Amino acid sequence: MLADGEWRSGRRVGPHVTVLVAGEEPWQNARANFAQSMSPKITVPALRARKKHGPKIAMVTAYDATMAKLLEAGGADVLLVGDSLGMVVQGLANTLPVTLDEMCYHGRAVSRAAVRAHVMADLPFMSYQSSPERAVESAGKLLKEGGCESVKLEGGRDFAEHVRRIAAAGIPVMAHLGLTPQSVHAMGGFRVQGRGAEAAERMVEDAHILEQAGAFGLLLEGIPSELAARITASVGIPTVGIGAGPGCDGQVLVSYDFLGMYPDLRPRFVKRFAEVGEAIVDATRAYVAEVQGGAFPTDAHSFGPGPKAEMTGNAPVVGTLPPGYGPASGD
Ligand code: KIV
Repeated sequence: MLADGEWRSGRRVGPHVTVLVAGEEPWQNARANFAQSMSPKITVPALRARKKHGPKIAMVTAYDATMAKLLEAGGADVLLVGDSLGMVVQGLANTLPVTLDEMCYHGRAVSRAAVRAHVMADLPFMSYQSSPERAVESAGKLLKEGGCESVKLEGGRDFAEHVRRIAAAGIPVMAHLGLTPQSVHAMGGFRVQGRGAEAAERMVEDAHILEQAGAFGLLLEGIPSELAARITASVGIPTVGIGAGPGCDGQVLVSYDFLGMYPDLRPRFVKRFAEVGEAIVDATRAYVAEVQGGAFPTDAHSFGPGPKAEMTGNAPVVGTLPPGYGPASGD
């Protein structure tokens, strides 16, 4: 037990104070702030326990700190820094061009904000496929430089050794089965997988092989509901579904989809829980109209020639950092 004012790892602790130390990685500051928060961190063992004890795992994608904070405030258990960022953030047609450095960049942003939620990141295309060694190095980079707490890779039995080596390095790894977007060309498009008895049998076997290899969970995408329920019932690790029906141990959606921010695509498995895209367009229209009509800004949004306090409404120029945020980094 540390006494108030005692320093550990360059951090002064007290009942209400965590001093952020220059030079520490921002997500470490977030972790320090978490130590003082009331909500327990959602760990990998906690996620595994959800299979038996519930509640279902609620996973969403996150790509930046502001959204991560909002999604966590909404109670999301896992923030997935998905390579779907290639499509919804970068405007690409698929996820293939996304790089490991880009995943680390977005991982850092999300990790700075996440206090309670578990942060998982995708291993992007060709950051792991070529060898188990490459897979371990890339997974390690997502933790060391991306601030993430676990990784996810796409693929079945062909990647069992990759999973085994990543897990042996102490890195929690989830395996993604079914519609695996990085294989879009091999699949001939984003198509439902595991249809027919043979394909279904093979996927059940894949699930067992990956569990044996050390995966702590399975993500099941774009497969028949009955198959997802069968896999879920036959493995001892949690399954998280997307377009895989209600029989999984959890669900994941791309945040831009369930928030109604990605109008280009409206897949059947997505339920829109809000129309944030429309709200953004409406707000922007109102802003443009006020700027062009001269209604904004008014005196309430403007500064006079007085002292500095006036500029900040008497608030300190530098206040305390909100929990979960670290100082600005080179990003
Ligand atoms: O990249 C991603 O967002 C994903 C989800 C679709 C599960 O892998």
